[in-house]
Amino acid sequence: MQDLRNTLLRSLYKGALAGAALSPVMMGCINESVTEQGNNKPWTLNKTTYTSSCLEDGESYTEYPHEGWEYNMSSSDQQTIIVCAPQSQVNCKHAMNMDAADVEAHITAALGSDDACPPSYPYADGDGNVCGPVVDSDEECCYRITVAFTFCVEGRPFTVDGMARLARVKESDGWCDEAFMPTGLDLLNEKHLREIAFKWAEAGTHEHASVASFAKFIMELMSLGAPLHLVQSATNAMHDEIRHARDCFTIASSYAGKKLGPDKVSVDGGLAHVQDEEAILKAAIYEACIGETLAASVAQWMAPKAIDDHVREIFEQISMEEGSHAQLGWEFVQWMLYTRPHLIPVAKACFEESYEEPCSPWAQGLTREERILLGHGCIREPLEDLLRRRAYHTLVIPCADLMFSLLDSGLNDAHAQI
Ligand SMILES: [Fe+2]
Ligand SMILES: [Fe+2]
Repeated sequence: MQDLRNTLLRSLYKGALAGAALSPVMMGCINESVTEQGNNKPWTLNKTTYTSSCLEDGESYTEYPHEGWEYNMSSSDQQTIIVCAPQSQVNCKHAMNMDAADVEAHITAALGSDDACPPSYPYADGDGNVCGPVVDSDEECCYRITVAFTFCVEGRPFTVDGMARLARVKESDGWCDEAFMPTGLDLLNEKHLREIAFKWAEAGTHEHASVASFAKFIMELMSLGAPLHLVQSATNAMHDEIRHARDCFTIASSYAGKKLGPDKVSVDGGLAHVQDEEAILKAAIYEACIGETLAASVAQWMAPKAIDDHVREIFEQISMEEGSHAQLGWEFVQWMLYTRPHLIPVAKACFEESYEEPCSPWAQGLTREERILLGHGCIREPLEDLLRRRAYHTLVIPCADLMFSLLDSGLNDAHAQI
């Protein structure tokens, strides 16, 4: 964490030396204008309709929480899924008698299960509908719900109109090396194996999407007349992401016992905003300065905890390179703001909107099961969220603070602080 912080801060000082000669501007410090966002709920359902029956002949459903890694992971698709929650935790009403709060409570009960590593959160799709209960056993209550999905994407996502695009996972030997036998595999139960394989396959789809993201970013850099070193760094980063995707799918395949890889990813509309400077800046702040900085920090925290030497080496390589991608993101945004100072208010607003309350990752401690999974590179959402929040406050805010301060103070102060 400290190394990453120092790297990012030093690169901002260097960028200030190069950039201040171009266009020094006067502005305030981000700390004075950071605002709070009250609603941390990661998903919502709205415009929901409730129907009395929903089982039709020939229809097949995916159960959620998912059963293993074969979950359909396309974030751009709307899906009809079965959401099951324990009877003891939910009020198993007929769908016709449910309101939005009942649906939320049901999904929360399902997502809160210790048995799953949720791949994503349902979010407002505008056409959501609920019917059921479709399964009403003594133990659980299930509804059919149509939702679209979004992901807590690790690293730099490939986004189109604000939506992350990910490939689905399929059986494939095109994106992985030979499988290996991770240390401690024989001590894991079936559920742990599925969860770990799913998490690494999910990470593989994120890395795979990052290849498309950097391809798009390179096109954007060209359209902006960016300097050589930024184009070169982005090209190198794209190659890193290909390697990351391959390594993640290799680990996933080793735990799954079968070769896994990505299906195609939709790139429709991917270059729609390639000439839009404001959209490019916003994407770089959210995806790189924030997204990759937080991802790099979490990966750096997790890497030394891997018990298998090969997994740990891969993890360390990925976390180090993700740190350099985060650095590229900050350098790019700094260059954009030196050359286009009229965009500084846009940049400040992005950081303000992304603000989240600090929260100690250690408040809850770790369960035995979480420790086991951590040893295999799998982290569950609540802990990851807490680590990301900590990194937001120890990395993103100081970097944004320094970047805006350097823009304000110009070349002389930057010299003085090096
Ligand atoms: Fe990556
Ligand atoms: Fe990356």
